[in-house]
Amino acid sequence: MDTFIKEIAELLGTTLQMRGADIASLIERPQKANQGDYALPCFFLGKEQGRNPVEIARELADQLAPAGSIEKIAAAGPYLNFFVNRIAFVGRAIGAVIKTGATYGHSTVGAGQTLVLDYSSPNIAKPFGIGHLRSTVIGHAIKKLHDALGYKTIGINHLGDWGTQFGSMIVAYKKWSDKPAEELTVSELVALYVKFHAESEADPALQDAARAAFKKLEEGDPEHVALWERFKADSLKEFDRIYDMLGVHIDVASGESFFNDKMGGTIKRLKAAGLATESEGALIVDLEGHGMPPCLLLKSDGATLYATRDLAAAEYRYQTYKFDRMVYVHGQEQKLHFKQVFKVLELLDREWAHGLVHAEFGHYRFKDAKMSTRKGKTILLEEVLNKAIELAEKIVTEKNPDLEDKTNVCRAVGIGAIIFADLSNRRKRDVEFDWDRILSFEGETGPYLQYAHVRVCSIERKWGKPIGPDTNLELLTEEAEFQLAKKLADFPPTIRRAAEQYEPSLVSTYLLEVAREFSSYYEAHRVLNEAAPDLTAARLTLVAAVRQTLANGLRLLGIEPLSEM
Ligand code: ARG
Repeated sequence: MDTFIKEIAELLGTTLQMRGADIASLIERPQKANQGDYALPCFFLGKEQGRNPVEIARELADQLAPAGSIEKIAAAGPYLNFFVNRIAFVGRAIGAVIKTGATYGHSTVGAGQTLVLDYSSPNIAKPFGIGHLRSTVIGHAIKKLHDALGYKTIGINHLGDWGTQFGSMIVAYKKWSDKPAEELTVSELVALYVKFHAESEADPALQDAARAAFKKLEEGDPEHVALWERFKADSLKEFDRIYDMLGVHIDVASGESFFNDKMGGTIKRLKAAGLATESEGALIVDLEGHGMPPCLLLKSDGATLYATRDLAAAEYRYQTYKFDRMVYVHGQEQKLHFKQVFKVLELLDREWAHGLVHAEFGHYRFKDAKMSTRKGKTILLEEVLNKAIELAEKIVTEKNPDLEDKTNVCRAVGIGAIIFADLSNRRKRDVEFDWDRILSFEGETGPYLQYAHVRVCSIERKWGKPIGPDTNLELLTEEAEFQLAKKLADFPPTIRRAAEQYEPSLVSTYLLEVAREFSSYYEAHRVLNEAAPDLTAARLTLVAAVRQTLANGLRLLGIEPLSEM
């Protein structure tokens, strides 16, 4: 815990007759410099005592005497503000970063809790689209945030690898392709699928053949299963290439097909509970009483559906992982689907259904018309990633033609730009995708942050002398140094809030603020000064703390911090 909050809680404890931990959870960190370094909002006391919180704050300010590192206590409206000893604050804040290094900001608040994350989940034999990029990037960051807080996390890739379309694929492949199945690329698979649709309009017999083929697949016919497995392997090869580029690894890849033999049990339980009813030949769970259309379990031909698989998957995952929460990081357009699935599980008396969350997100909007349509086709993610790397290369070469590790740097800058463009927005908002903007070195972009980190590294390199552990941080007496130290101390609570809200953008915004504040500090103060080695050592310790915080934050977002670019 923040040691100042602890001191404040102790100061307040006897007067308020409350436990320290309870008080601590109420203490805020006001954002404006003149509002005190910490504050206790007195509204809850006002409610409790049936009095005006302004009066209570004033009373408390009179009663309490500053002690220890708390130098001043003052009321401001309904808030009780605490001002700390600045030297002590700067020393402790910077000391905490330096001491914990790569784990600064991490904690154990989540220890003993298990979080399952369902994200990415592209569809076999279809291109990895932009929507799956959002799911992958946001899901990955949410997972890392929870890892940092000590949760046990399990990432699941719920691949779309089942459904009637595989019947069509098999028919199309047999009819029109002369390539060995193991050599098909995703775009060839997609082309086969498109051709099937075009031709089957004129020739309904094809659709019958597809239905028959899917039935055979479901029955486990070896030839059909082998083809389906080939198609799946072809797709996974491409997906893995994309995950590699993004630096993402998902713990468990279990597609929808994994639940083929598990849906029967779920349906049986739904029937036994009197929840599954027949309607026009189909099996449904009626959700009218809950203001939703019915949840479809079986079509009239007995085929299972997306929701059936999700119900079975949720039950199976609870059995397997005993999760405290399971978070589905998928687009807004699936809102109703997840609401239905959660409701059905709740009706089935699954206590754990209350721990199911849909962390939804908005769409991508492409500003550059060239990228936007290509005649209605999905935008291929791999093309977008490659273009980002290519553009990064142009920019980096201009700025630094003799850079050594250029391939890696351009990859990190290009991919980082895409990731940051996504994660700098609140997830529910649409992402406005504009090539010029996301790769710009100015503004709220990945390259700007990368560059801020590189610049900090180069300041340290320029000094070139080691900084001893006995650096005197008491020399950091400037207002800007105190404010920067305060900003750094905000990192741990920012991670907690971002995890709680499944909102990586809180970390992105925070990092931009650190970078901006550091940059104005650096412009206004002489950090490297041969004539004042002690002050330089102290300032460089602050610089190192800024670097560490930026690096830790970037890593949580899934972006690799660079030392040169
Ligand atoms: N494959 C699905 C799609 O592309 C996403 C799967 C989401 N996860 C889930 N458990 N339903 O839309």
